[in-house]
Amino acid sequence: MRITIFGATGLLGKSLMRECASDEVSGFSSRDGDIRDPLQVSAVVRNTRPEWILLAAAYTDVDGCETNRKLAFDVNCLGAANVARAAKECGSRLLFVSTDYVFDGTKTTPYETDDPRNPQSVYGRTKAEAEVALMQILPECCIVRTSWLFGVTGRCFPETILKLAAGRPEIDVVNDQRGSPTYAPDLAYAISQLCHQGASGIVHATNWGECTWFDFAREIVSGSGLTTVVRPTTSDKFVRPAKRPKYSVLSLRSLNQRGITLPTWQDAVGRYRQERRRISTHPEDQQR
Ligand SMILES: NC(=O)c1ccc[n+]([C@@H]2O[C@H](COP(=O)([O-])OP(=O)(O)OC[C@H]3O[C@@H](n4cnc5c(N)ncnc54)[C@H](OP(=O)(O)O)[C@@H]3O)[C@@H](O)[C@H]2O)c1
Repeated sequence: MRITIFGATGLLGKSLMRECASDEVSGFSSRDGDIRDPLQVSAVVRNTRPEWILLAAAYTDVDGCETNRKLAFDVNCLGAANVARAAKECGSRLLFVSTDYVFDGTKTTPYETDDPRNPQSVYGRTKAEAEVALMQILPECCIVRTSWLFGVTGRCFPETILKLAAGRPEIDVVNDQRGSPTYAPDLAYAISQLCHQGASGIVHATNWGECTWFDFAREIVSGSGLTTVVRPTTSDKFVRPAKRPKYSVLSLRSLNQRGITLPTWQDAVGRYRQERRRISTHPEDQQR
């Protein structure tokens, strides 16, 4: 299958490049495939003639989006629409990666794909508006919402926690936001399966299970050999520019109905730790 990836240099993009290695894959960064530039996007798509375009490019700094609103809308919303138009022009299928932050977090049971969007942050708004625009431009597109992404191929929560834990006897982590961690290689696998199935519509894809950031941090530290104590705290002690949903667990019904299940998030944390150890002994592998 011929696949073109926008955002191939990001946390998810690098995992997608690996997952699609046996396909005919081309990957682009913001330098050689800036999605804000419709001409550049159109040239990339015409030159690569993909059956599938995977759109993992985004401005993902959730707090940064609050102050850099124009950049957030230009990349996440207008940029996504540019890719959709180029896909339409060339007859390519499009898979767009979206987020749990399109929801407000007021539910107490997992969000279904047809629950109403009600983003609480600029980042969430840009992704929600992109979803709507893409479905208008390309009704057959596939939108994959995910959450709490982590992996060795980019900056992520587990990396921050391990760095903090290495230098402190105790760390405080919020225990009043619930979600589902998602290991980038597992999401890349799910995305590849969806492409091979020719999927369309909205799909929720995360690792199995849910937790708070405190639970997540405790699991990360507990198998690391560090003796740091992880203590629960509340969000009001860590006020940040962007509001986060209190509860953003995504129902996996849409993924399971397509015959795809991903391992538990605890299993994924174990594999993340192993991969991190492997890279620390073979640093040359990090470049791949
Ligand atoms: N991280 C999470 O926790 C999370 C959660 C839910 C959903 N998501 C979604 O998952 C997707 C992947 O996220 P990620 O964490 O892998 O992102 P990331 O690590 O921040 O990588 C972002 C990617 O987008 C590219 N990019 C940025 N601006 C661009 C532009 N103007 N034109 C073209 N490419 C541009 C970057 O290229 P350069 O390397 O050239 O800068 C990079 O390859 C995004 O759609 C994000 O919204 C992420």
